[in-house]
Amino acid sequence: MARRTQWKLRRKLKFCGHIAIKLLYMSTATHGLARDVSQPLSENKHLLKWIEKMAELTKPASIHWVDGSQEENEALCAQMVDSGTFIKLNQDLWPGCYYARSDASDVARVEDRTFICSLSKDNAGPTNNWVNPFEMRKKLKELFNGCMRGRTMYVLPFSMGPIGSPMSQIGVQLTDSPYVVVNMRIMARIGMPVYAEIDKDSKRVVPCMHSVGMPLGPGQKDVSWPCNPEKYIVHFPETREIWSFGSGYGGNALLGKKCFALRIASNIARDEGWMAEHMLILGIENPKGEKTYIAAAFPSACGKTNFAMLIPPKGFEGWKIWTVGDDIAWIKPNANGHLRAINPEAGFFGVAPGTSAKTNPNAMKTLARNSIFTNVALTPDGGVWWEGMTDQPPAECIDWRGNVWTPQIAAETGAKAAHPNARFTAPASQCPTIDPAWEDPDGVPISAFIFGGRRATTMPLVYQAFNWSAGVYIGATMGSETTAAAAGAQGQVRRDPMAMLPFCGYHMGDYFRHWIKMQRNLSQTPRIFHVNWFRKDENGKFVWPGFSENMRVLKWIVDRAHGRALGRETPIGWMPRYEDLEWKGLEAFPRETFDKLQSFDSATWKGEVMAHEELFLQLHDHLPPEMIYERELLICRL
Ligand code: OXD
Ligand code: MN
Repeated sequence: MARRTQWKLRRKLKFCGHIAIKLLYMSTATHGLARDVSQPLSENKHLLKWIEKMAELTKPASIHWVDGSQEENEALCAQMVDSGTFIKLNQDLWPGCYYARSDASDVARVEDRTFICSLSKDNAGPTNNWVNPFEMRKKLKELFNGCMRGRTMYVLPFSMGPIGSPMSQIGVQLTDSPYVVVNMRIMARIGMPVYAEIDKDSKRVVPCMHSVGMPLGPGQKDVSWPCNPEKYIVHFPETREIWSFGSGYGGNALLGKKCFALRIASNIARDEGWMAEHMLILGIENPKGEKTYIAAAFPSACGKTNFAMLIPPKGFEGWKIWTVGDDIAWIKPNANGHLRAINPEAGFFGVAPGTSAKTNPNAMKTLARNSIFTNVALTPDGGVWWEGMTDQPPAECIDWRGNVWTPQIAAETGAKAAHPNARFTAPASQCPTIDPAWEDPDGVPISAFIFGGRRATTMPLVYQAFNWSAGVYIGATMGSETTAAAAGAQGQVRRDPMAMLPFCGYHMGDYFRHWIKMQRNLSQTPRIFHVNWFRKDENGKFVWPGFSENMRVLKWIVDRAHGRALGRETPIGWMPRYEDLEWKGLEAFPRETFDKLQSFDSATWKGEVMAHEELFLQLHDHLPPEMIYERELLICRL
């Protein structure tokens, strides 16, 4: 940093008193790093001023400007091993990997503690928790006052999207959690190149304030997972700000992910004419080398990561699936009116239970090194395990709560070795199927959208919307059984429009309108499909094998998107007949079972449409008329 700026900053801080000076210039070699981490790494005066203000409010013991280097990462991990937050895994088995166990009360996103504090309640809509922003600011001031006492405040600059891409956005997270820093280093582009972007002064920076909410008194011993029973995950859409208090876990704390890349970005996208979606992005390459990209929205923990890394089954020799992203897509029309998508993230924060060499070998290879595991089980050889990772569980391990776990204990008590929402944080660049264009600053072209949910009944394996607005209706009325990704009851069907219910940062009705409006700027409209891998038979067994076999559905979708596959018209949309799917390699799958999977029952669907009504009634005053017409049309066709 230029001497002059340092000097100016020192002078300025003198006015703010003694504490701030002490804060910034306390240490010269934190955690054994050669660099003086308290030295500012940016000259941006707005940033410096904001940090100064936040330090005055939160009163940390020191400030650490994160440079994102490997050396710094190692120092932070070593520090967390010393403090008990991290356990270093057996490096022969899991090179570069660490293990963490959260507090038992801090294991998932807390939707009921997540707030959209727009100026007007109406802008947040009935599906978001709204609090008057002035009141909320008052509350946050109280909560954050002194909340970092005894801790280090990390200045963490991050880019969502490849640095320098016109589609990327920049944030700076101030956090008192080193765990968050090392996770964010995997999930986003962080550090020096981001400061350089900020110093160009050309991009708006989204300020992200985060504290685990557990200040330390003098001499007070820390716990391995500090957090606070009172949690607030707060978004101010107009000022594009995020404030998160009390949690150190996942989407509550890694603020680039759900808070920025979806809730704040959905607001930016609406204002600027693009889309921020809860979607994976993948490329399908056929044996002729033709590549087609699709984006797919599924609610949390419905297999997006598995789908994004699918390995084509027997019978699809010469086909390849390329992974661009597994959770979030930012999608923008280019100058020719074609939709292009980037994955704003740089890593995967995947649900561990159920991930195995059988269900997702690419994920297993991705997470095999340089990864962080949270709330899985620890094996005696210094490795990790979770339910579904292997057919044979380990004879003994330490579960996610730190207790001894054996298969017998599990049988007797139902105890899980890993929490159902246990996660791996793994670099996307390590994925064997990562698309060569995954960091293309202009994104990849999108030919189709897929919506999907976890539905035991009613929804067929696949169908295609008649057109864009019918497709928006399908997305808008998507339902899914709830999973462990969010705190609360599981297994109940809830409407989760476009899988965005917990992530849309404004009124859902306006969000549908935005989808409808997007078509106007497009010269080529992607086709829209709905899939359901989770239909069950009368014995409660899944009818469709799923996983690799989903490729058969994907091929039909790609062919339909290119206008070269047949289907039959039904009241809900276009459906493949048995003969429209490729069955090579799965010839044993009976035609009758397929017909059952695709079966459409008018009476059940009448019930389904009634269930759509519930959400629509809630949103009625903001619903675009197209949603009402589509509903009427569907009712007529039924
Ligand atoms: C996630 C989620 O973590 O959707 O991706 O909950
Ligand atoms: Mn998600």
